[in-house]
Amino acid sequence: MNRAELASLYARVRRTSEQLAAPLTVEDMVVQTMPDASPTKWHLGHTTWFFETFVLSTQPFHQPFEARWFPLFNSYYQSVGVPHPRAARGQLSRPTVSEVRAWRRAVDEQMATWCARADEGTFDTLAPVVEIGINHEEQHQELLLTDVKHVLASNPLAPAYRPLPTQKGAHVALAFHAFDGGLIEIGHRGDGFGYDNELPRNRHWLEPFALANRLVTAGEWLAFMCDRGYERAELWLAEGWEHSRHERWHAPLYWRGAGDEWMIATLGGERPVDPLEPVCHVSFFEADAFARWAGARLPSEAEWERVTATQRTDGNLLESGALHPCPLGVAPAGVTQLFGDVWEWTSSSYAPYVGYRPFQGALAEYNGKFMCNQFVLRGGSCATPARHIRASYRNFFPPAARWQFSGVRLARGR
Ligand SMILES: [Fe+2]
Repeated sequence: MNRAELASLYARVRRTSEQLAAPLTVEDMVVQTMPDASPTKWHLGHTTWFFETFVLSTQPFHQPFEARWFPLFNSYYQSVGVPHPRAARGQLSRPTVSEVRAWRRAVDEQMATWCARADEGTFDTLAPVVEIGINHEEQHQELLLTDVKHVLASNPLAPAYRPLPTQKGAHVALAFHAFDGGLIEIGHRGDGFGYDNELPRNRHWLEPFALANRLVTAGEWLAFMCDRGYERAELWLAEGWEHSRHERWHAPLYWRGAGDEWMIATLGGERPVDPLEPVCHVSFFEADAFARWAGARLPSEAEWERVTATQRTDGNLLESGALHPCPLGVAPAGVTQLFGDVWEWTSSSYAPYVGYRPFQGALAEYNGKFMCNQFVLRGGSCATPARHIRASYRNFFPPAARWQFSGVRLARGR
């Protein structure tokens, strides 16, 4: 990217974050309803801290906007300081939301100046870091929405983030499409941006397999619940069963009700569960138990990428404005809903590809140190910016996490 392109993309991404925060009150933006879900104020500050720390602060004569704030907005980068505890981000009434916004404006002005005036060598060295910062902010745009959803859904008044469009669906029969096995290559091809965890390209041997034509629906999940899926230990991994008992899981996160009467909290407020919409906010443990109940399994990330590598990344992503997984209107010709709607749990542990090399310097902490006890999710969700997703993209969360827009696609052998 040249200077003008980088500056323009930077400005666009920063503006989008502000637009996503616009429907919120100041009070909405400071609450933290669980350790994993950060306040909107923190997301707005943290993404700003990222640019100030990894770009502007490396420049001579840079004066920090307010260096005392840095530990508060450092997420997990031990090499640049001691981060404030994640679970305590919602205890900070200062800096205020308006102070964080002033910080954003100041950093944006300095970044614009840097893009225009940095000498050639400095620009070439730091432009890739700015690009990582832009992609990082896109990740936080999705997190901002998932975390706001948790804040609003935790409130008995069930406030809406904003009104959402209603989506009418049609029943689409579940079908499996067969794919050949063989030696395949997955990973980022080097065209455009990719994270270090998508590299290098690496080979996998696949047995012939079949992939479901669509995502698992809420109606199918209701059938699992009616068949006592949450009460049958034989369907669950031991750790999942323990967790499910401890947390008293009996339905996806954000479902409330009993029998056939279930309500769901969405970013548009609470409404009845639509049995035709993709099920969302389920953990890996639940997805795995459901797949076993259904006589199927979760796809591996190599199988998923084998199918999607040649597909367009179209789908119900952030820009669609739905902010909720949508039911299908018509039966697909092939495999559909691969991008957008919900992140799809895979059976693959989040591990480095053979030959993995982390980003250089402090950004080596970005991905690599989380490659333990997490599972890979693929495909993006209704909260993922369209520019952010690609076939090789590897998202990852612990197996019990369910506050992300995470759902299920089934696979099986042929
Ligand atoms: Fe971050």
